[in-house]
Amino acid sequence: MKRLYVILLLCLPVLPVLADEGMWLPQLLKALNEKDMRKKGMKLRAEDIYSISKSSLKDAIVSLGGFCTAEVISGKGLMLTNHHCGFDAIQNHSSLEHNYLRDGFWAARHEDELTNPGLTATFIVRIEEVTSLVLNGLSSGLSEKDRNAAIENNIGNIKKNYSKEATQDILIRSFFEGNKYFLFVTKTFKDVRLVGAPPSSIGNFGKDTDNWMWPRHTGDFSLFRIYADKNNNPADYSPDNIPYAPQRSLNISIAGLKEGDFTMVFGFPGRTMEYLPTAAVRQIMTINDPTRIAIRQKALDILDGFMRKDEGVKIKYAAKYASIQNAYKKWQGEVQGLSSRNALAKKENYEKELMDIIEADPELQKKYGSVLAELNVRYTEYEPYSRARDYYTEIMPRIELFTIAAQANNLISGMKKGNTSYESLKKEMLGKCSDIFNEFDPAVDQRIFQELMPLYAAQGEPFSSPWLREQADPTGSYSALSDRLYKSTAFLSESSLRSLLDKDSASALMALENDPAIKAYKELLDTYTTQVSSKLTVLQPAIAALQRQYMAAQMEALPLKKFYPDANGTLRVTYGKVKGYRPRDGVRYGYYTYLDGVMEKYKPGDYEFDVPAKLIDLYEKKDFGRWGENGRQPVCLIAANHTTGGNSGSPALDARGNLVGLNFDRVWEGTMSDINYDADICRNVMVDIRYVLFIIDKFAGASNLINEMNIVNEKRR
Ligand code: ARG
Ligand code: GLU
Repeated sequence: MKRLYVILLLCLPVLPVLADEGMWLPQLLKALNEKDMRKKGMKLRAEDIYSISKSSLKDAIVSLGGFCTAEVISGKGLMLTNHHCGFDAIQNHSSLEHNYLRDGFWAARHEDELTNPGLTATFIVRIEEVTSLVLNGLSSGLSEKDRNAAIENNIGNIKKNYSKEATQDILIRSFFEGNKYFLFVTKTFKDVRLVGAPPSSIGNFGKDTDNWMWPRHTGDFSLFRIYADKNNNPADYSPDNIPYAPQRSLNISIAGLKEGDFTMVFGFPGRTMEYLPTAAVRQIMTINDPTRIAIRQKALDILDGFMRKDEGVKIKYAAKYASIQNAYKKWQGEVQGLSSRNALAKKENYEKELMDIIEADPELQKKYGSVLAELNVRYTEYEPYSRARDYYTEIMPRIELFTIAAQANNLISGMKKGNTSYESLKKEMLGKCSDIFNEFDPAVDQRIFQELMPLYAAQGEPFSSPWLREQADPTGSYSALSDRLYKSTAFLSESSLRSLLDKDSASALMALENDPAIKAYKELLDTYTTQVSSKLTVLQPAIAALQRQYMAAQMEALPLKKFYPDANGTLRVTYGKVKGYRPRDGVRYGYYTYLDGVMEKYKPGDYEFDVPAKLIDLYEKKDFGRWGENGRQPVCLIAANHTTGGNSGSPALDARGNLVGLNFDRVWEGTMSDINYDADICRNVMVDIRYVLFIIDKFAGASNLINEMNIVNEKRR
């Protein structure tokens, strides 16, 4: 009784999950969310979204290659995702003669659709909880290592005994920091072909300047098609494969949305960390993010200098630059958002209220009374090592010489193990390195080495290596070292690497081992392994065990609160309303953008803000067809849906489950939603489906594709 009273009293402020927060498990919507969703305007039932006994919306949702989301939009397996999700595929098919990145690509017939080896489309057949099976037989005193081994063993047995069809796979994942486990039956298609993509000047309009920003004007979409064998089952690529007939494809609504309308996003968010203690969030804000931002800033400055001067370098480094810049900019927004929204104070209050409840209950106190204090101790211990890890993981991959040295190192250890032939190790290394050489310039790489090594050394020993200190010039610069390395290594071109590897295996091995780049790489790797990873392998499991207890403590102490599990790349539903926001004092952002805004941003000949002539022409003639609204063409919109990386390409659905938009980003001020969601300023960014259809129909003239789709309501409700 006393416990209940305390709970009622104390959990009032922490009880309601903040409006619109949460990435919910589709099979639990009925129990947890249906009522709230309907209150917010949804006209569907939970079983229309997820069902295993009849076709539901989930049957149209695809995990694209494990890195993005896509959705089926026709009875012939046509699939919509982002331009930036299809980027690799579009780039791989591009050449100087067929520059699909620059000019766009549209397959007029099925025969023209382009195959993409390695790209997959995975559907979720069903989801089941298997916690008790996974944790079966685990005694409480087990070390983390033994516990994990026992879990692996149980998971192996569950998979072995589970009955499934031959075309299905089984996946078991941990949720709530290891407090729950769910099993996923999946079906993966392996023949996924490129159907259409707008030019980058539409699909990536605004590039890095507009990335993570609102107001936004990007037509970030591309189209693929799933192919199946004659029995409609997954199959490797074959010219005999036919377009997949899906269980379900999404209907499209072109009625448009207004402020306050219900939306939901259905997809595969990658990773969030909503249940960290204050100490961990403080570390991200003050140590990890700033360290990583500073290193990336340096790398980006160098790349930018080279890319401006040299068109060839610009082409080679464009994708790399964009990917370095993407997280760099996100982390800045994250630090700023956490600090301006007082995330630390909010976390501290929450912890205080939670501890009051725990301390008032002897049973809870006994189980969880010390968990937060222990977490704090562990995070304090963790701090220097997590910073050293950031140095290593941010600096080493920026230097391609080290990436190639790492490949050489793999070959050397493979030879020493002795169970793979030299020829196959060599083939593997050349394969991996040829991708690197395609996007590589030795002069750029040497400059990055020269500028990043002083940063690496500046973290001091024991984390930086004593060897590195000895290599420095008296001024602390590494130009002499870099000259020596880059003059004598064989790792700078495919031809010199090939001629080294073409020697007999013994001579090749000796040459690899004596290459100065390998020596430098191994010095840094060895110091990192002994000084940093060895510590992390102890600290990380200790923290994971405490986080698991902390999560359990929250769920037990706040039994009335609805918890959603952190994103882990599994299928989720998030819902909220179309809404503008106030990014800062005195500024209010609307929730829609129009083609007029594209024209406002238009800078002829600019790398980021140029616009195709045809689009200008359509704009001037107001030739929007049925895709416009009151003489204007809608382009993008925002809503309060809780999304993260991996939600790119996810469908935005209206109250009836019709496709109304395509998720592709978040607003900069709200990127801290991965750590501490704040309904006031966290917004996801979507392309309005009518802009997608306008580009396909009016810009590309691909009415064949429009005809495949099922467009439901032509008029505004
Ligand atoms: N920020 C979005 C995401 O995290 C879009 C990234 C692609 N666009 C770009 N300009 N880099 O993936
Ligand atoms: N652009 C992100 C992606 O590729 C989605 C944006 C976000 O992080 O919310 O998944």
